[in-house]
Amino acid sequence: MSEGIKLPLPMKKGFGATDRVDAWWKGPTAMVAYLGFMIVYATWRGMMESDFWYFEEFGRSAGHQTMAIESQGSHALSPLFSPLIIPGEGTMGSLVPMWLAWMSPAMFILIFPAGFRATCYYYRKAYYRAFMQQPTGCAVSKPWDEYSGETGLLVIQNLHRYFMYVMLIYLPILSWDFWLSVNFHDASGAHEYGVSFGSICLLVNVIMLAGYTFGCHAFRHVVGGGSNDWTGGALARLRYSMWKLSTGLNEKHKEWALYSLFWVMFTDFYIYACTDPMFGWTDLVLWGGL
Ligand code: FES
Repeated sequence: MSEGIKLPLPMKKGFGATDRVDAWWKGPTAMVAYLGFMIVYATWRGMMESDFWYFEEFGRSAGHQTMAIESQGSHALSPLFSPLIIPGEGTMGSLVPMWLAWMSPAMFILIFPAGFRATCYYYRKAYYRAFMQQPTGCAVSKPWDEYSGETGLLVIQNLHRYFMYVMLIYLPILSWDFWLSVNFHDASGAHEYGVSFGSICLLVNVIMLAGYTFGCHAFRHVVGGGSNDWTGGALARLRYSMWKLSTGLNEKHKEWALYSLFWVMFTDFYIYACTDPMFGWTDLVLWGGL
């Protein structure tokens, strides 16, 4: 470093004060709106199928369920409710005590995708700036001086790798949901393959989530970290291929993070709109079906 420069460099003081002349505030502001909307929407939908408070007026309690499209013989389950856990029903539901039957199925499972995104390195950067002003922006003064790093409650961020492992289990589950959605059936036992707009949404959701998960920094480290041999055997070459794939996806991790979040919410909204009479939508069958 050249002599004569005194650190720290002088900076304007006061929330948002800066010498920057670009529109640095646009990104964090857009992020507040985007993430804020997604969090509110997911919470609302997650609560909708529960039997408490005023949410009883919606979803199953109101006499119809908004979790899966069952009309026209198709079956498209919203990714916000998959794997579907209803106390007392199915193999997984039977493991849940009946006194939890007031809970929405989403409440049993959303902690994993929510935890995965909340501890993601990209999202951390985004929401530390957008919501916590830590920092407000590069070379922009923030409202407080203290910075204690990811200590205290934030050590929970270290669980990211474990959330990633769980998300690797989600991918085949969501793929199975797509498979179910192209197997049309009716009460008489008739079966035909078909593709609806709902099944396309589920397929794109799996692809988006796979792109996001396989580009995860933790996944990249798991498949390629600590290796100094890429060619010594079949396993080494496989690890190299996976690391290369992960690296390519990782370069666009921000895009995968934001677009996959949009798509999972859009898919859920489409299924919601096709199942709630208020909208009057039906799933558009594009090919085959009954
Ligand atoms: S770092 Fe973003 S999902 Fe792992």
